[in-house]
Amino acid sequence: METVTTIAAVHARVRGWRREGRRVAFVPTMGNLHAGHVSLIDAARRHGERFVASIFVNPMQFGPNEDFAHYPRTPREDARMLAEAGCSLMFIPEVGEIYPHGSERVTRVEVPGLSRILEGEFRPGHLEGVSTVVAKLFHIVEPDVAIFGAKDFQQLAVIRRMVADLCMAVEIVAAPTVRDSDGLAMSSRNQYLTAAERALAPQIYAALQAAERRLKAGDADFAGIGRSGLTALEAAGFRPDYFSVRDAAELAAPRPETRELVVLAAARLGRARLIDNVQVTRP
Ligand code: PAF
Repeated sequence: METVTTIAAVHARVRGWRREGRRVAFVPTMGNLHAGHVSLIDAARRHGERFVASIFVNPMQFGPNEDFAHYPRTPREDARMLAEAGCSLMFIPEVGEIYPHGSERVTRVEVPGLSRILEGEFRPGHLEGVSTVVAKLFHIVEPDVAIFGAKDFQQLAVIRRMVADLCMAVEIVAAPTVRDSDGLAMSSRNQYLTAAERALAPQIYAALQAAERRLKAGDADFAGIGRSGLTALEAAGFRPDYFSVRDAAELAAPRPETRELVVLAAARLGRARLIDNVQVTRP
């Protein structure tokens, strides 16, 4: 695996592959890789012939009181894991390479509507930071296909919409959420949990599964299911931001006849903020 830090070096390598007719698959990450990220590289291997991963903790997607400064950075371990997973090129730029004029003054990409609900309400500007950096990374890497984890369901919806609206020639592939054996979705932020919080953390998935069971049994009281989820999380010791049943396509409030649903939850537990979701096809 080759490691590069500049946009020029990525262009040179990827354009060489393209001249050879190779299909390029891309996995954008913020590093501190775990088995969930390795599953994204595995998916990339099924969809491409050359694999690029980026490691960039994007300041633009962190709010002023969030964990940008403390976000875990483990570049050596990340490089080892990517090489073992069969990655061809690791792009690990400095902030100045991506935002030469600063992230405050950069041209922005925003998906209105989708970016302002759910995560957008509790983390204003977060999804705008994501769509902007992903648009930049797509221009830098020029991939044929890019892989994103389904755990960040709203992020995935925003990126799909951005790609469609801006006519970007990138296929977007969703990889299933990877969970620990007790059901907790893998996330770099799980390491903020104390041992006692870690034992409680799978309750977020348990609450989502309870909602899934009700929906599959034909319950269409979406608001009631949301309230029960919030109550269950509070009772377990979380400080929930939202627990909401949405239409899986638009993330809007579902109609009684909507069949493709997603239940999304975000909740704080100690220093960690956990997000998770389940997709449900109603009978
Ligand atoms: O999901 C992430 O790790 C980040 O939001 C992403 C897509 C790499 C953009 O910084």
